Amino acid sequence: MSEKLIKDMMNVLPRDFQWGVATSSYQIEGAVNEDGRGPSIWDTFCEVPGKVSGHEDGKVACDHYHLYPSDIQLMSDLGIRNYRFSIAWSRIFPEGKGKLNEKGIAFYDRLIDTLLSHGINPMATMYHWDLPEALQRDGGWLNRDTAYRFADYSMALTDRFSDRVNQWITHNEPWCTAFLGNIKGEHAPGITDAQIGLDVSHHLLLSHGLAVQAYRENNHKGKIGITLNLTPAYAATESEADRRAANYQDVFSNRWFLDPIFKGKYPEELGDIFGTMPSVVKDGDLDLISLPNDFMGVNYYSYGVIAHDEHGGVMGKHVTPQDRITDMGWPINGKGLSDLLIRLTKEYGKLPYYITENGAAYPDVVESDGSIHDVARLAYLKEHLEALTVALQAGVDLRGYYLWSFMDNFEWAFGYSKRFGAVYVDYETQKRTPKDSILWYSQWIRELSAK
Ligand code: NOJ
Repeated sequence: MSEKLIKDMMNVLPRDFQWGVATSSYQIEGAVNEDGRGPSIWDTFCEVPGKVSGHEDGKVACDHYHLYPSDIQLMSDLGIRNYRFSIAWSRIFPEGKGKLNEKGIAFYDRLIDTLLSHGINPMATMYHWDLPEALQRDGGWLNRDTAYRFADYSMALTDRFSDRVNQWITHNEPWCTAFLGNIKGEHAPGITDAQIGLDVSHHLLLSHGLAVQAYRENNHKGKIGITLNLTPAYAATESEADRRAANYQDVFSNRWFLDPIFKGKYPEELGDIFGTMPSVVKDGDLDLISLPNDFMGVNYYSYGVIAHDEHGGVMGKHVTPQDRITDMGWPINGKGLSDLLIRLTKEYGKLPYYITENGAAYPDVVESDGSIHDVARLAYLKEHLEALTVALQAGVDLRGYYLWSFMDNFEWAFGYSKRFGAVYVDYETQKRTPKDSILWYSQWIRELSAK
């Protein structure tokens, strides 16, 4: 344990700071046909040859649906006091709307109650990409109606769980749904159409606004916000051309979602990037989308250095140094996180921020004694914890940090080939083994909580 790291953090750490870990439903639960769960777009997508590495899927995943008691016990043994998870829409409404499935509710009741009985605070994400397949058949997020069905779903969740869950995240990384799912086609539903992607982004945002509105109208006592994946874009040089390219990259990676939520408008540059703008915006939508949030969730993994590209598009090209990268090929830069938080506070408001995800994939090696010395992941973690200290010193209202992920899991298009877990999962036996990084993190949490 680095004494200096602890001391610096101690000087600025707010009371009740939430140290936690995060996961999501499709990535860990498995049990896709159990207790009335309806299929989601990820079940369907995984069946399409060539979409997911090794043709893998979430049918069993970490079998958390059955193993949640021992998973929570392990979390508790490690001293984790905050857990961010997501709820699978198609367990609650197998058809996405209409009849509510009590057995789905019962699973999350058990999960939440078990967390609470171990003294673990639950933070729930309503949508982490597993849209009910039935809604996709009616157009999915391209259909405006889906936003209203999401609002109904959000109300069912807060109606049933908000007596015990005080922190709600409407959406996780809507950028990924819009861009990776509907423009790049690398995620479900696998569509490749810029106009569809932009319109999907608008309906995702609208659904967020509707859920926030409903939450307020129902006078819930907790907090509601959204989680965005944000990636700072630095210009390679001070030249006008590089700065211009980096600005476009920033619009694409960050302002596409930040501006409508926190400023009530889409950045005009989206039109230059995609050759079109969201076409389904109706009067009043942006007022709903920009309703005040109680907090902002930030998922941070990497950054980009951008240069003008004379042969390419307005967003230029990545010239990010490749000397420090994770197994995803993502360049590492802790400073990107502090810069980002400081910039958000300046440009988007001094609201409470949570790092709802941060972490790194590495190919772990299990030693003969069963231990996992994930030195690189631990170095990544420390570097980013230092960045939190810098942000706090600069006055950012940071309230929590959730490590991605509690355990190895289904990494979307990469299947099980990428390990982000702090706990190792042997998928043959479902045995969990804490890696060195979480043993360290566990000690870190204990020391900081004790002081
Ligand atoms: C962001 C996503 O929310 C999560 O599902 C994913 O596994 C991690 N990033 C790592 O890629």
